[in-house]
Amino acid sequence: MKKTIKAVDLKGKRAFVRVDFNVPLDDNGQVSDDTRIRATLPTIEYLITHGARLILASHLGRPKGQPQPGMSLKPVGERLASLLRRPVSVASDCTGDGVRQQAEALAEGDVLLLENLRFHASEEANDEAFCRELAALGELYVNDAFGTAHRAHASTTGITKFLQPAVAGLLLEAELAALHRLLHGHESPFVAILGGVKVSGKIGVIDHLLEKVDTFLIGGAMAYTFLKTKAVSVGNSLVEDDRLDVAAVTLKHAEERKVDLRLPLDHLAGEKVAPDAKTAVTEGPAIPEGFMGLDIGPTTTAAYKEVIAGAKTILWNGPMGVFEIEAFAAGTRAIAEAVAASGAVSVIGGGDTVAAVHAAGLADRIGHICTGGGASLKFLEGEELPGVAALNDREG
Ligand code: 3PG
Repeated sequence: MKKTIKAVDLKGKRAFVRVDFNVPLDDNGQVSDDTRIRATLPTIEYLITHGARLILASHLGRPKGQPQPGMSLKPVGERLASLLRRPVSVASDCTGDGVRQQAEALAEGDVLLLENLRFHASEEANDEAFCRELAALGELYVNDAFGTAHRAHASTTGITKFLQPAVAGLLLEAELAALHRLLHGHESPFVAILGGVKVSGKIGVIDHLLEKVDTFLIGGAMAYTFLKTKAVSVGNSLVEDDRLDVAAVTLKHAEERKVDLRLPLDHLAGEKVAPDAKTAVTEGPAIPEGFMGLDIGPTTTAAYKEVIAGAKTILWNGPMGVFEIEAFAAGTRAIAEAVAASGAVSVIGGGDTVAAVHAAGLADRIGHICTGGGASLKFLEGEELPGVAALNDREG
């Protein structure tokens, strides 16, 4: 367990707070989904109430070490100011004399948001001189960026060599507690619903959870890779041909351990990924030539719903089909409804899954919604997250 902001003296201190404000912007450059900003408010408000002077730091997008006007954190600062109902200054950079002066001039409760850390290649390179510069801005380090905790970058790990204490924020603490409970304190039956395009991102999770999960429900394009390893024809469906071997090994492991790993029994298939595509529900798991799987079919949906209704613990990561297109959204929506209605302890993660749950208006009925898809998968693969490992351990 890691030390949190509740265990340190904050009054009058400059707190360097790594947040994950990597949020989507719309065509007008405005924040189109502020979930990650809202999720950090408890930490920010706690720090303000306890008299800290706040220096917030984040990345936005992947600007490849160069300033990119379209990836500035200015619109994020505006949204944060309106959520906090207090001014937020946005610095023109994240290091340098001017920024240092701005940080030193902060009064208690003031909030300064640094400009995009990834405008400097040194951030991702975890460059020591850059770590020192960031560290010099604060008097204590707080990591609340769960979504970036799987990256060993200057602002998530290197900085802690030069800035102590290094503690967790309240969002990071809540995310880790929810995931820890899934692995170590869950009630059975434990059902893991995994979907999305790539099998490669989920194989490690399946392998690590084989001992814990009672039933895996597989959907999305990753199901076609699994089906192909079983010599089921998948037509033109998306398949990761370079992962067929590992997918086959995972299926074998599941069988050896007598874990119930379900693949779709039928599909909604279409000629192309387009709203006007000619579609048909397949009779069984095979997909005819010229067609590609675009969603789970009604028989699969009914079977999966029945398993979900009996679950006490649910993990869900990855949509069941191309849910962004209404014609292929039914499977994902039905699963979202079933998870919400199950009464189970539920944890969902992954940008698409979270978006699907929001689109269905069901977010309030899900136990815990992770703000980090990649980070939660790494955790569930059993890997230590470097951004967490770098923090001070709780005493006692
Ligand atoms: C995310 O959105 O997953 C995090 O902010 C990490 O971003 P990255 O994948 O660009 O490192």
